[in-house]
Amino acid sequence: MRSAVVPVTLFHLLSSSLLVVGITTFTVPATPTPTVGSSAALSGTPSASFAPFPLPSTVPASSGVNPASGPSSPPPVESPGVVPDFSAAWATAYTKAKAKVASMSLGDKVKVTSGSHTLLGGSLTGRCTGVTAPVNAIGFPGLCLQDSALGVRDTDFATVFPAGVNVAATFKRSLIRARGTAMGQEHVGKGVNVALGPMMNLLRVPQAGRNWEGFGADPYLTGEAAYETILGMQSAGVQACAKHFINNEQETLRMFSTSDVDDRTEHELYGLPFIRSIMAGVASVMCSYNAVNGTYACENDRMLNQMLKSEFGFQGFVMSDWLATHSTVQAANNGLDLQMPDNFFFGGLLEAAVTLTLVPQSRIDDMVTRILASWYFLGQDSTSYPAVNFNAGDPWDPATNQHVRVDGDHDVLVREIGSSSIVLLKNINGALPLQAPISMAVIGSDAGPAKNMGPNEFKDGQGEDGILAMGYGSGTANFTYLISPYEALQARARKNRTTFAWMFDDSDTKSAAVYATLKDVALVFLQSDSGEGSDRSGLDADNNGNALVQAVAAVNKNTIVVVHSVGPLVIDSWATHPNVSAILWAGLAGPEAGNAITDVLYGDYNPSGRLPYTIAKQSSDYPAGVGVAIIPYSENLNIDYRHFDSAGITPRYEFGFGLSYTTFGYSGLSISLITDSSDPDVAIEANWARGLPGPTGSGSSTALWLHRPAYDVTFTVTNTGSVAGTEIPQLYLHHPPSAGEPPSILKGFSDVFLDPGQSKTVSLLLSRFDLSIWDVVSQTWVKPNGTFGITIGASSRDGRLNGTLTI
Ligand code: BGC
Repeated sequence: MRSAVVPVTLFHLLSSSLLVVGITTFTVPATPTPTVGSSAALSGTPSASFAPFPLPSTVPASSGVNPASGPSSPPPVESPGVVPDFSAAWATAYTKAKAKVASMSLGDKVKVTSGSHTLLGGSLTGRCTGVTAPVNAIGFPGLCLQDSALGVRDTDFATVFPAGVNVAATFKRSLIRARGTAMGQEHVGKGVNVALGPMMNLLRVPQAGRNWEGFGADPYLTGEAAYETILGMQSAGVQACAKHFINNEQETLRMFSTSDVDDRTEHELYGLPFIRSIMAGVASVMCSYNAVNGTYACENDRMLNQMLKSEFGFQGFVMSDWLATHSTVQAANNGLDLQMPDNFFFGGLLEAAVTLTLVPQSRIDDMVTRILASWYFLGQDSTSYPAVNFNAGDPWDPATNQHVRVDGDHDVLVREIGSSSIVLLKNINGALPLQAPISMAVIGSDAGPAKNMGPNEFKDGQGEDGILAMGYGSGTANFTYLISPYEALQARARKNRTTFAWMFDDSDTKSAAVYATLKDVALVFLQSDSGEGSDRSGLDADNNGNALVQAVAAVNKNTIVVVHSVGPLVIDSWATHPNVSAILWAGLAGPEAGNAITDVLYGDYNPSGRLPYTIAKQSSDYPAGVGVAIIPYSENLNIDYRHFDSAGITPRYEFGFGLSYTTFGYSGLSISLITDSSDPDVAIEANWARGLPGPTGSGSSTALWLHRPAYDVTFTVTNTGSVAGTEIPQLYLHHPPSAGEPPSILKGFSDVFLDPGQSKTVSLLLSRFDLSIWDVVSQTWVKPNGTFGITIGASSRDGRLNGTLTI
């Protein structure tokens, strides 16, 4: 949302090492842990500079583990263990950018570092969510930066893709990559330079408003989803934007809160998806509204210079979230490269700061170089790159909208992701798949289309009417169509001449019971919505949902509940009811939502979705709620299932859980060391194996030695049932007690399609990074002492094979 205005004061400009939260002023606590690099930023000198990555491996391996890659030639999705090397592509882009910067005036340099929207009475001008000015002297046309993380926002003839949380629930890298590629193609087709996604903040708080935009509660799953999404998007030619860096895990007071996070938690949980984004060659990162440990994220030397640009080796540019810039000198020196969407701090004030040497010349050059290099990195200097052909601010203006069709056949992919993301949580008495019911009642407003004004009735989805297929806020797009469950199910039911009734009034539980009585099957549709700017106030379904299920289950012993939700709900008032014969968790599936659920209900698609978060028995079982002003991340490493495991709390449905219409067996676990005679880093790896600290410095967290495959975990999965289906085997690591880790953490997954009776061998690779913990003293990834346990299972609590690993 772009309407909030941050109070701007001279105080912010000169001294933003203090954070103003409402009327309270906090002094920034000292950086809680040892830091890398110098902390010279406060004296006006940036504390980190560009260096190529990955380091310290300077010799590319010949085995193909580390192939030279460019954004348009990423490794194929099925290339486990490959660590793409983007360093040559970045170096070429940097050479081009530096040549331009050498000839630029200070005024032109400054122009590149900010958005050119003007703030007119709180609203913004410009054709994209954000725009930067052209610099004619160097032939730079400026940038179009456009939401959202699920499609091209505020335009026509584009696709609303299933939400991030849905594609994560597929646990299928191929679908995650394909969605990224398709979204990238649509952004390019509209002339967008920078697509403002993916969003990768973790589901730390189940009520957090924007959880659905991201990839769930686990840092490994989120990291893999971010990696595949970015490789896909950038392969189409658009610059991706990893957001929001960092600790933007709730909406309440998002512009005025500080997330207090310790260094180990920061690295192992919240930083991990950004590390994976950088390994995918992400061109840009958006710093978040909130402060981190008392200092705004967009002027935080520790986060931007020391971690992101130095330790993680990020080579693209950092843009501020919209109006998240609070100063000139501190923001520039502490790592912000592009102010968005306006130039209040980075216009004339930045020019003056450079002239007065408060911001070094080398730093403004670095800012411009990073922005131009990212543009070259994606080949957007090509004359064939499409010009902006839409106007997000006024999509119906004939002069500025060419109505270019970019959706192609992406509906096919949307339907597949929709079906593949549905999680079957309960299925008793042979309720599903449906055979040929004689009669069916479909109950709940979520089953139907919008009653009044179609799927785009509410700007940015800010309202509920009919099927919930996305959340609300800037992470949305306009629907070109939206198939409701009622439409898809009625058409399908006619094939069996099923009598079909519907009732969309959520408040009328009496009529719901009447409609459900004497039906072969009663389907109740629930929803829970949320979005940017506010967190959910609780974890009950919206619109009287619990009472609706109870009323129907009281009269029909084949009550099937379908839930379209932004995240976890507490469903214990009906989940174990003996008449609730099936529960399907369908998330936010986009325009094919009705077809997707119909495919699964009738068994045309055998469900394989897995929960990307935990569904608890009660809200108080979760480790964290919405915080106020100072948000203590005091649960540390124990978010979501890690907390349930370590505190011994039984959830209703655990992370990673999901049923199928068939069954699977697991056998033959073996764990072996991978050796590679061309590996140049054996000495470093031997030190790591002894538990010693690794090298520090630029790119140290993305270095090849750390991420190359080290152990191969293989096993066999067999379809032991009677229909074809996909199993999602998951690898959980149990660190030795000395590590101080949660009992069990996800470190691998795959998807295996099997015909009845068929078996396949699966190989999941573990890197040294996967096995390491972050050591705050040495500031490196180290191996804890002791024996690791490895479980292969069908969920975080359904272990099937157990092994150990001693290094
Ligand atoms: C959101 C970002 C979004 C930006 C531009 C901000 O309010 O936090 O995610 O990309 O607006 O719309």
